[in-house]
Amino acid sequence: MKNLNPQSANKVVAFRWVKSPQKGLLVLNQLLLPHQEKWITCRTHAQVADCIRHMAVRGAPAIGCVAAYGLVLAAWEKKFTDAKVLVAHLYASAQTLFSTRPTAINLYWALERMKNAIKEIRTKASNDRGKIKEIREYLEAEANEIYDQDLAGNHKMGELGSELLSAHSVVLTHCNTGSLATSGWGTALGVIRTAYRRGRIQKVLVDETRPYLQGARLTAWELAQDKIPYELITDNMAAHLMKTEKIDAVLVGSDRIASNGDVANKIGTYGLAVLAHFHRIPFYVVAPTSTVDLNIRSGSQIPIEERSRKEVTHIRNLPIAPLDSHARHPAFDVTPHGLVTAIVTEKGVVRPPTLETIQALFNIKS
Ligand code: MRU
Repeated sequence: MKNLNPQSANKVVAFRWVKSPQKGLLVLNQLLLPHQEKWITCRTHAQVADCIRHMAVRGAPAIGCVAAYGLVLAAWEKKFTDAKVLVAHLYASAQTLFSTRPTAINLYWALERMKNAIKEIRTKASNDRGKIKEIREYLEAEANEIYDQDLAGNHKMGELGSELLSAHSVVLTHCNTGSLATSGWGTALGVIRTAYRRGRIQKVLVDETRPYLQGARLTAWELAQDKIPYELITDNMAAHLMKTEKIDAVLVGSDRIASNGDVANKIGTYGLAVLAHFHRIPFYVVAPTSTVDLNIRSGSQIPIEERSRKEVTHIRNLPIAPLDSHARHPAFDVTPHGLVTAIVTEKGVVRPPTLETIQALFNIKS
């Protein structure tokens, strides 16, 4: 296993694992971006859980990675003398981390991998004292591997996805799917990064992504750092621009994909897919296979996170509506697979996404 230094992945990183002298996870506080770059030091799994819950770190693959490191911290945050007590603590900590956000399946996927690693090492390890050391080391190696695989997958999706674009494309993207949302390159934004280096991107239209403004605050910031030409638009400008200007493709990420290819992603994605369909613009979803939930048949089974109404009525604590306004904040929506032109994964491009093509990606025989 090669443990890549996050710094080498890209200029922007969302988190950084510190191995020694004391284990720690540094999380770039995305709530303060783009105007302040401040890091939060996490020494406990509860601190990591807080960062995920309050969205100091966000984006499906990134929260999977940091949750895995959160579990490594759980193994170090107390003095353990009995391996059984350590394992019980790890399971409880995994539950705390899991309960932070409901929609992104990558969180569950990463924690399940970590729990399986615990089971594996439990059967291998020697005596109880040895087990504690071995469990800790094994968990750290597993978290590093989750990170490494996500980064490698991002680059692979970048290559596969950029093949779908012709030279000098104008693309539209929603939310933030870049280094800040992953281990360091991006899903949809990773495709844009790779395609730009290959002369396939003329310009990126960036939806501001109300209400949390991941597009305005994070995607614009990432693109600016990479000097990729972009224009920031408010979400309600997409239809007008699709009708009046040349837009070659829409590229988005995903938080969970059902076995039939229905796609959950940031609120507003479904509307964009409908618009893209109407204007005959290809609509591509870019996501690693860790985002596919084979346990659910369709998007109607995906839990949609309801966040605080305050995130709609206020921007950075500044009220923008009557203080007693009723407001709603479903943070995600589901795009039916029929509106998705293709799903780009690190294992290949699924086109069109259906139960059959997704099963074929996983070599499942129906
Ligand atoms: O609420 P967020 O910011 O965590 O939502 C993020 C998204 O919806 C992204 O599009 C998705 O996680 C895919 S990013 C690689």
